[in-house]
Amino acid sequence: MTRAPSLTLNQLGLRYPAHGSAAGVVALQNITASFPAGSFTALVGPSGCGKSSLLRVLAGLQAPTQGDMSAVTQSDIGFVFQEPTLLAWRNVYDNVALPLKIANRKSRLSAQEIDVRVSEALTLVGLEARAKALPSELSGGMKMRVSLARALAKRPPILLMDEPFAALDELTRFRLDDDLRAIWQQQKPTILFVTHSVTEAAYLAQRALVMRAGEIKSEIAIARPASQNQPDNFRAAPSFHAACAAISEALAQGERA
Ligand SMILES: Nc1ncnc2c1ncn2[C@@H]1O[C@H](COP(=O)(O)OP(=O)(O)O)[C@@H](O)[C@H]1O
Ligand SMILES: [Mg+2]
Repeated sequence: MTRAPSLTLNQLGLRYPAHGSAAGVVALQNITASFPAGSFTALVGPSGCGKSSLLRVLAGLQAPTQGDMSAVTQSDIGFVFQEPTLLAWRNVYDNVALPLKIANRKSRLSAQEIDVRVSEALTLVGLEARAKALPSELSGGMKMRVSLARALAKRPPILLMDEPFAALDELTRFRLDDDLRAIWQQQKPTILFVTHSVTEAAYLAQRALVMRAGEIKSEIAIARPASQNQPDNFRAAPSFHAACAAISEALAQGERA
């Protein structure tokens, strides 16, 4: 995986224009932040605070209306949405391969290279044995694994994830959280992970940015001793509970304001 330069945002703002009877909306303001290469950041905040808008700006899907940011190349970015958005009539392998085949026209990946990447991505998410399955034959957690594999197969140095596991039951989510941590430790992409869940943010990330009304209000570093890098034991660790408390406190400050 190629290393991306760190992402930086400087006084970034986004205003959606008024249309019809709907007034314009300021979705982001004064966003100054940097995301070093290989870092894992969680974005937390109430619904409507601008988390998805921030990811869309970072992905180049939405131009900011104020401020500036480091340039990112579309091919450097893997985007994972809350919905797995799989094509129902294609099997797992073909769903993962499709973006590579489309990119192939420009970047000229050989069929063999595509096969290597798809197999590698399916192994990373533990689905190598289900390559021929159709989406309808998979559980919700497996579908999300396919969606993650599809993003990973591009080998993007930056992964933007918008509440990817929010629709899953808690045990499935815990398993996917552990697998995502393992993939991050192995490949070290820069990850921005949007979640509603305080515990998920504290479990996954190195730091949490708490957003409110279009702004980043707090930054909380999450201490995770190397001895707690293995799954499971961190959920019982005092530093995990301290991180949860700090993120909850930052969220609650907005409620009281
Ligand atoms: N395409 C859009 N056009 C107009 N307003 C939008 C659009 N997308 C989001 N918004 C508004 O921008 C604000 C931030 O939305 P969003 O980024 O989706 O927040 P979050 O992901 O934190 O729930 C909200 O007020 C939302 O209604
Ligand atoms: Mg959102």
